[in-house]
Amino acid sequence: MARTAVSQFQRDGANASGQGSSRQSVDDLRAQWRAAFARVRGETEARAAHLSAEDQIVQSMADASPAKWHRAHVTWFFETFLLKPHDPDYKIFDERFPFLFNSYYVAAGPRHARPQRGLITRPNGADVAGYRAHVDKAVEHLIDSMPAAEAARVFEILEIGLHHEQQHQELLITDILHAFAQNPTDPTYDASWQPPRPTQGPRSFVEVPAGIMPIGHEGEGFCFDNETPRHDALIPPIRIARHLVSNAEWQEFIAAGGYATPSLWLSDGWALVQAEGWQAPGYWRRQDGAWFAMTLAGLQSVDPAAPVLHVSYYEADAFARFAGKHLPSEFEWEVAARENVIADAFGIAWQWTRSAYLPYPGYRAAEGALGEYNGKFMVNQMVLRGSSLVTPQGHARLSYRNFFYPPARWQFTGLRLAEFV
Ligand SMILES: [Fe+2]
Repeated sequence: MARTAVSQFQRDGANASGQGSSRQSVDDLRAQWRAAFARVRGETEARAAHLSAEDQIVQSMADASPAKWHRAHVTWFFETFLLKPHDPDYKIFDERFPFLFNSYYVAAGPRHARPQRGLITRPNGADVAGYRAHVDKAVEHLIDSMPAAEAARVFEILEIGLHHEQQHQELLITDILHAFAQNPTDPTYDASWQPPRPTQGPRSFVEVPAGIMPIGHEGEGFCFDNETPRHDALIPPIRIARHLVSNAEWQEFIAAGGYATPSLWLSDGWALVQAEGWQAPGYWRRQDGAWFAMTLAGLQSVDPAAPVLHVSYYEADAFARFAGKHLPSEFEWEVAARENVIADAFGIAWQWTRSAYLPYPGYRAAEGALGEYNGKFMVNQMVLRGSSLVTPQGHARLSYRNFFYPPARWQFTGLRLAEFV
């Protein structure tokens, strides 16, 4: 597993570090980056193509964004951070768009209020498609025509923009699922969608190598700044679950009164259970004595053998206490995944860890607006590791650090347990 989760751009031989450039001409790199750009931009449109124009406007909560906004925002990212600084001839598509489609970059200028993104019916879908086509053409032109001396910096920002767009490809789907889950007709994103199959085999706990271990990104491939600097961490003697916690195990937690037992919960979590009336994971519904859940293929019966999804950090922590175990730290998870002792590390559920989202020792955010990408969120959130069933192909890495607030459960979030030896 350790070597399969490389950047798709690296696999194509195109990475902004210049690795391989001694063997490849700048023109080869231009061709590879053009292909990578077209592929990622195309994947966004393929995901949005399942949605009607009305679907693409809706915003079901402040944390979720309309699909149309995602398609425009990732385009704004290329316009703002790649085209404006590096193409003196670039013409802004529409002077009103930066205000509408800047997300949280204070240094990039003022922006529209996040909870009100669903009110923006105009520009309409055709306008956003025109914006995407305009920026696509300009980026392709920049890749082809920039001086070779600027190639390294241009490819570096292009690479960040592609990974950024992939993150929004995942959000586009999690956000529309949340919207569909509010709809009494149980809409279907993709009728042919099938849940990923978890690895079979004995549900055992396996030892994680203990001691002082290197943590963080290694090598020449892409990573976000929050995966660096690589540093040492102390791994205590623990065992980690080979498998993700299943729906069957979660149903035992429910049946045992897990959602009604305050001693299992962190104080903030118990307050939320009461305030929200939580009795099961997000999107679960009880009908005629059986559990159903809203999925990308509409309302489906809950498969006991499948990993549990859509649980918050508070629920994951309460379940671990119920089971007499704990959640692994992000460091324990990374060592276990690198040593290939766990199943389903990637591709099903982001896995909550007990690690707060903090800077690694020596971390410094980059200068300027792009330095706002990760660093300013390093408080009050918890780290999730792995990747989910809607993470784009090639986006996941061993050192990848996802992060969400403890109450969040609209992402494809699950857990695996750990125990002290
Ligand atoms: Fe973004």
